[in-house]
Parts: sequence; C-alpha cells; structure tokens
Amino acid sequence: MNEMTMDRAYRPAGLAQARQGLLGASVPRIEGPAKVSGTATYAYEGAEAGTAYAAIVGAPVGSGRITGVDSAAAEALPGVLAVIHGDSRMVTGGSNSQAQAHSGTDQIFHYGQPVAIVVAEDQTIARDAAALVVVHAEAGDGRFDREAQPVQRDHDIGFLKPVDIGDLDAALAAAPVVIDRSYTTPVHFPAALEPHASTVAWENGKLLVRTSNQVIGGARGTIAKALGLAREDVRVLAPYVGGGFGGKTGVGPEVILAAIAAETVGRPVKIALPRAQTAYLVHHRSATTQRVRIGATEDGRITAFAHEGVASQNDDASFLEPIPFGSLPLYAGEARRFRTDVVRVDLPATGAVRAPGEAIGTFAVECAMDELAERLGLDPVELRRRNEPEADPVSGKRFSTRRMLDCYDEGARRFGWAERRKRREGDWLIGHGMAAALRGNFTVKAEARVTLGADGRATVACDMTDIGTGTYTILAQTAGEMLGLPVPAVEVRIGDTDFPASAGSGGSFGAGSACSAVVLACEDIIAALALRMNASPEELTLHDGYVVAGGRSVALADLLHGEPIVATGKTGPGAETQATSQASHGAHFVEVAVNAITGEVRVRRMLGVFDVGRVLNAKTAANQLVGGMVWGLSYALGEEAVVDTRNGHFVNPDFGEYHVAVNADVPQIEVHFVEEIDDSANPVGAKGVGELGISGAGAAVANAIHDACGVRVRDFPVTLDKLL
Ligand code: MOS
Repeated sequence: MNEMTMDRAYRPAGLAQARQGLLGASVPRIEGPAKVSGTATYAYEGAEAGTAYAAIVGAPVGSGRITGVDSAAAEALPGVLAVIHGDSRMVTGGSNSQAQAHSGTDQIFHYGQPVAIVVAEDQTIARDAAALVVVHAEAGDGRFDREAQPVQRDHDIGFLKPVDIGDLDAALAAAPVVIDRSYTTPVHFPAALEPHASTVAWENGKLLVRTSNQVIGGARGTIAKALGLAREDVRVLAPYVGGGFGGKTGVGPEVILAAIAAETVGRPVKIALPRAQTAYLVHHRSATTQRVRIGATEDGRITAFAHEGVASQNDDASFLEPIPFGSLPLYAGEARRFRTDVVRVDLPATGAVRAPGEAIGTFAVECAMDELAERLGLDPVELRRRNEPEADPVSGKRFSTRRMLDCYDEGARRFGWAERRKRREGDWLIGHGMAAALRGNFTVKAEARVTLGADGRATVACDMTDIGTGTYTILAQTAGEMLGLPVPAVEVRIGDTDFPASAGSGGSFGAGSACSAVVLACEDIIAALALRMNASPEELTLHDGYVVAGGRSVALADLLHGEPIVATGKTGPGAETQATSQASHGAHFVEVAVNAITGEVRVRRMLGVFDVGRVLNAKTAANQLVGGMVWGLSYALGEEAVVDTRNGHFVNPDFGEYHVAVNADVPQIEVHFVEEIDDSANPVGAKGVGELGISGAGAAVANAIHDACGVRVRDFPVTLDKLL
C-alpha cells in the first residue's frame, strides 16, 4: 500500500512527467451513455421476483405522545403483507440524515416521525394502506416557532468554535464608517431530484442495501449499528446517485425501516420516500438570523469585522449550521468576531445542505460588503481588493494557494464590469452585482485500488459515489494520466462497500481525496514498472500504452508478462494540512432585470471565475459550478420552506410550492478558472469544487437587484412583494 498523509507539499513525479494531457481535459462523462440510455441502475430500479414495497406512516402531530396505532383497516386491504409498529429498532432522521434511534418510547420528537411501516405487494397498495393506518396521539406543547425560543450562546454543538480576536467593540466605536445590518434566511430543503430510495434484501443474516447515498462507507456503519449487525454483514451499493445536496450524506430512517420490513416479510423490500415525506425524514438547512458589523476607514480598509448568527436544532442532533464558516478567512481586519448561537426547536433535524455555512453566510456578508462599498463610494470589487488578507486572518496560517485577486480581476474583465450601465429597458430595470465566493477545502482519508491488467488495461476500484458530479470520469482520467492510458482503457468501479474505503461525496472533498488515492496507487505501479525497465520511476514516462525509459519504449502489456499489477493508494490529511489555510475561491458577477411594475426579477447573466487548485476535468468541474450558481439564483429568488408554527409541519413540502429554479429561470451562465495546482492540498493538487459555486452566488443576485431598483432586501428569498 502506498500510504501518504499530507505532511508536506507534494507533487507526484508521475503527474509532473505526465504526457497525456488527459487530466484536466474536458472528457465527456464516461457513464453518460448508460444514464441517457436508461441502463444505469438507480436504487429503486430493477426488482428481483418477490420484492415487496414499503411505505412509512408518520406522526400526525409535532410533539407529544403516541397513544395507539390502529392498523386494522390497512391490514384488511388486499395485497398488504404487514403493518409493523413498536419495533425497538425504529429510527427517525437525525442530523445529516443519520438514522437516529427513538426506540422504547412513545414520545414524538417531530411531525412525521416514523410510527409504522406498511409492507405490500406494490407501491400503490403500500401507500394506500399507509393512509389507512390511524395513529392516535396526544399532542404536546412543541417549540415550533424558532423566533419565540431563547437563544443559547453557551452550547457545545457544531464544529465551528466562536472566534473573538482583538477588541471588536472598541474597533467599531473608533471606525469612521460602520455597517451594522441583520439578515434572515429561511429553511432550505436539499431537494435532490432522485428520491431517497432503497432496495434491501437479507441473505443468510447479511444485509444488501441498494441505496441512493453520498457516503456509503459511513452508511454501512450506521446501518450496522442501527440493526445490531457487524459492519461486515452489511454491503451497500450505490453505483449511481441522482443528486444528494447534503441530504444523502447519511442514512435515512427509511433504510432501517425497509430492513426491518424485509426481515418481517422474508422478502426483499423497496422503499422510496414520497417528496412530501422527504421534508420530515431528511434533514433540512436551518433558517438563520445573522448580524454583520463592519468597521472601516474612509479609504475602505476594514478594521473590525463581526459575523454572528443564530441557527436552530432539535435536542438530539449535534450539527449546527456553521454560519460564518466562509467569512472567517475572507477579508482582512484586526478585530474579529464570529459565532453561531442556537435555538432549540421540536422539528426534524437540521443538517448539511449545499455548502453548509457559506451558502447563506455569504448572503449576509457579501450583501453587507456591497452596502459598505456604496457608503464609501467605492467600487465593490475595489473594496474587496483592498481587504485581501496576506495570511489567514483568524488562524494566522499561510494560505496554501489563494487566487482571489485573480478571480476578481479576471471576472471583472470578462463580465465587462467597468462598462456596466444601470439602465431602464421599457418596464425593466437593469442592474449588476458581484460577490466573492469561498469554500473551505478538506482532504479526507481515501483509499483506492488500481489494477493494471495483463492486457494493459487498468481498473480503478473504490467505494466512491458519483452523485452526478463526474466521479467515474475523473477517476479514469487520473489513472489514465498516471499510467499513460487513454480513458477507454480504464474501467472505473465505484459505489460498492466491498471496494476499498474512499471519501464519499460530501463537503466538496470527494474528487481531490479519491483521485489522490488513485495517484498514490499508480505511483506504486509505476515503481514496479520502473524495476522491470531497470530505470528509476523518475526516468520513466508512460504514454499511449507505452513505457519509455533510457531510449527504450516497451508496450505496457509486454512488461506485465501475463500477470496484473495491483496496488492500493491511501491518502489523508497531515501536518501540511494543519499548517496551511486551505480554501477554494471565486468571484461572481450577475446582471438582473427587475420589472418596475410587477417586481418580477429575471436573472440575465451570471459569470463566475474560480480558483479550485488543479482542474481535474474542465467540463465536469464547470458543470458543478454552474449547478452551484443555479442554486444561488434559486435560493436568492425562490427557495423557502415554511414551518407551521402551530404544529411543526411544513406548509410547502413539495416542488409545487417549494420553488427551486427551473430551466426557464436560468440564464446564460459562464464559468472560468484561474488554475494553480495546490501541492499542499493533496497529491493530485485539487481543491473542492462542488460547493463553491453556490457560495456568494445568492448575494451577487441580491446586490444586482439593489443596483437595478434601489431596494435592499435583507430577508431571503427576494420575492417580488419585498421589492414593491
Ligand atoms: Mo455536502 S452539504 O457536505 O453534501
């Protein structure tokens, strides 16, 4: 095993010498044909004979006690196999969808909490029968209105600890210019298109779970624990995942309930959460209130910076929306304060959704920066340039790579920022806005096995997932680049916990971590090939299926003598990770049109320039950033889940009334990169991409709206009623 933690900045010789030009190229998705031809199998597809279908019955009140379950009518429905309730292994959705036990109690923690599972011959019967189950409950007084709950400043949840540097109050008092604004953001649903779905089957006491999940290695442990099994007795398969957005980082309760159902009826069981139930059994992003205070000199130098917020959580979960996560290293300024307080509510857990922290934190901070620029009479790009820090202003650590200034400059140039003109076109008011983007970079433990077959073709295997991001393709490109093979000569096998444990897809760490493990495995293979060529690995180049050293060129297959070479690579954070401040960066530029009569907002153009370290595939990386920018537009203008504060249910738990951006909302979007390989981040030199595009995107839209019509909306989403 080639195991390497990031204890020093490192660039593998194999990549430095790479001749293929494959890594970084816009290679089309290798799994694309399987997806568009319908041969890629998702969790709910394909059923072996005898598969039964399950549906979950949820608690009809948001707090209180279950006093009885009447399942007679459901059981009498033809095709119903079982109605199960009171099983001590029953769970509900915890933070980051970690199935959370609520066994041995009749207490109701939140509306929709699983009370019973119905198993039937088909999905329609299961759902019909679920509607016939009567849950008797005594409603209690629930804390459903977050506004009415006390704010807890002393708490120990969430990974982000409060930051207090210098004398903020004195610095604000002394600052010639001060911006002090409050912002609110509503509840967001992750809203993956593919439902939260699973097909589970027991065989000889072992459980096979086909599921839609971002991190199957973690899922395996969670499922085993919930059901009292050994890890080895659970195998999780997720070869294709139709979007996760944080909602599939953990195991939803439906997986555990389906396993219980399958055990009860002695048949494989399928389950898919109906969209409305997803709101209750999958975590959501907390609503937030945020206060931003910035003190600055007349020439726009920030001297005091405070970003403080309040997020909600229930009593059980330990996640807390890290509201100022993206603001911490964003701007210079001596006195600094960042914190997230909590209010406790009786709602489903809040958890990681699409760039937890940055997505909504940047809305507040980047809108406040726009207000500061306006107050100072400074261009908002110039204000940001003047406050670009030399080193991490909180930790004091050096940046691994930081190309923020280039993102501003390149973005402004490409967008035509200097030539922008606020204007009126008929009834439409045209305005422009910008914002910075920042997403903390993580490299996590990841392992991958690479086999160079006797035929000269390679196979990559690990338990990574592809949540629509292009994992298959970048793993093939990485192995191809290292081994000198074209993409079609590399087979990628992922989404199976039988393969080496990789990073999974979450926190934007998947690509950099998993591809680094592949790089390390390939280094071992190159070393083995070098031996056979009587050369050092550094003397070797591999391209087009040939190994070249010392003037000799030998076909790969000829070096293998009929035997494959198998190597495993393992990567993880280390001393260099600790010693540096790592983040991806970017700048958004947006043009909007606001209808002067109706207040309707149309986003006309979005342009982003991003610093993500090495670009592994220009097409799939850009696709992810475009997706993030669409989400930015989406939560700026539409997304808002409303809690009924009388009983803790969501008023709009479906796509009819929870408005995500659709095709017609999405304008021309341009994405560009300023590429600098980050040798401190991981062996492949790539920083996180997935959650960067959403960071700052909503703020840029809000700033453009203000530019167009003069209205500052500090309460997301910016719906037309707030503009008139
Ligand atoms: Mo992400 S919200 O860590 O999937």
